[in-house]
Amino acid sequence: MTLACGAQQPKEPITTTEPTKTLEDADYRPHFHFAPEKHWMNDPNGMFYLDGTYHLFYQYYPDGNVWGPMHWGHATTKDLLRWDEKPIAIYPDSLGYIFSGSAVVDLKNSSGLGTRENPPVVAMFTYHDPIKEREGRENFQNQAIAYSTDQGATWRKYAMNPVIPNPGIKDFRDPKIHWDAEHQQWIVVLAVLDRVYFYTSKDLKEWTKVSEFGNGQGAHGGVWECPDFFPMPVAGTNETKWVLIQSLNPGAINGGSGTQYFIGDFDGKVFTPVKAMQNLPENHSYWLDFGRDNYAGVSWANLPEKDGRILYLGWMTNWQYAQEVPTETWRGAMTLPRELTLHKQQNQYRLHTAPAQELWAYTDTIRYQKQVTVDADITLAPGSEVDLTKTVITFSIPDVAKQKYTFQLTSAADTLTFGYDGNTDSFFLDRSAMATSGFHPDFASHQVIAPRISKDKQITVTLILDTTSLELFFDDGVTVMTNIFFPKFPLTELIAVQSIIPYQLKDVNINQLKL
Ligand code: FRU
Repeated sequence: MTLACGAQQPKEPITTTEPTKTLEDADYRPHFHFAPEKHWMNDPNGMFYLDGTYHLFYQYYPDGNVWGPMHWGHATTKDLLRWDEKPIAIYPDSLGYIFSGSAVVDLKNSSGLGTRENPPVVAMFTYHDPIKEREGRENFQNQAIAYSTDQGATWRKYAMNPVIPNPGIKDFRDPKIHWDAEHQQWIVVLAVLDRVYFYTSKDLKEWTKVSEFGNGQGAHGGVWECPDFFPMPVAGTNETKWVLIQSLNPGAINGGSGTQYFIGDFDGKVFTPVKAMQNLPENHSYWLDFGRDNYAGVSWANLPEKDGRILYLGWMTNWQYAQEVPTETWRGAMTLPRELTLHKQQNQYRLHTAPAQELWAYTDTIRYQKQVTVDADITLAPGSEVDLTKTVITFSIPDVAKQKYTFQLTSAADTLTFGYDGNTDSFFLDRSAMATSGFHPDFASHQVIAPRISKDKQITVTLILDTTSLELFFDDGVTVMTNIFFPKFPLTELIAVQSIIPYQLKDVNINQLKL
């Protein structure tokens, strides 16, 4: 281990216990990512902000740890890191299970479902009718609304549901509502087979289909699901562009579930991607996250204008193995809430992702090294000083060459490897040497690869560890990799591995999360 100049004194050692006990359920529970106390969770739903509280609803099956009849679970947070689980918000009924959807605060009471003084929160979800599905009919998914007049605590279903009936199409779901201030209308973007439909409304109850998008655009290896659609300023300019975030399963760049995006213009009816993204071939799709474990993510509605952020969160697993990951009492966690920003560089629009800044209020620098020379395997973060179950690490590689930069998180039985390969100009992650990766053949069957987007000489890295997840933000978040892992024993160190030519790391900052 090298302690270079500027290093702080190591703090009290935490533990040096032998790994006598293998990790299990309780040890796998995240410290600062949302996971339900018990049972199965998938997609985030109905996220809105109101009066200092961020609401998260989610696909929830309260009677088991695999997918089942869907409810909307509910959790809230005031700081995006500490969560309170609430009673189930919406239950299935004779019209079907409650599939994914969204919620908005109807500030002007355009729906008439509340009052001007007490604006209703209106949610739109998909009713999935399992009986019609079993009967082999096509029209078993319909869009319906529910509303709350007590800030999301309790919900009433609208009497005239469905509001967008199924026209006879099997995959017809996941409505995401957005208040389109520019055109003074509500918009819904809906996933339909391998494309999206756009609808508009004045009152959230009567909807008109205005256009479609997606045929021949981007990745189509699976069904499109859980879209999101909103305008964003282009950083450092006066320009605004519309962003379509589009999950699909399977067909992601690294297999199974994943999320692509499109940037373009919207005239109130039709979405037109910018030239570079028109008729985008499958292999040139833009991916929001190259990791294997970020799916169905969407943004929060109703953030105050003076905040102005686009805050987003996804379901941190992959349908390939989500139902078999080695936790029993609960299954599924969300990513950290993240801020999305839109940038134009070298004539290309790209989304950048960063952990929501609230995170930094809970970090405590354990060790800072201005410069580290990696001329042998170097321990950057020793488990004796920092609890690697809740750690945020930032550093940069100032001058990348055509060689491999490899980092390893290790325990007595596990190695999780990630890094950058200058020969192929791509990032990689490998979990095949984790002792418990055999629970599903797809979990560690291949390396996770992300071709590098940035052309900078320097690579910046932010790495967030929370028991079973590693969220990696490279190059100021233009390339993101989110991956889960299940160590057999507690992680003991983060190592920078020696390469052919010795290399430097800059500003290596090891932070403990105080959560
Ligand atoms: C995506 C998804 C959605 C659907 C929900 C059902 O993960 O398949 O399309 O609404 O899950 O739980």
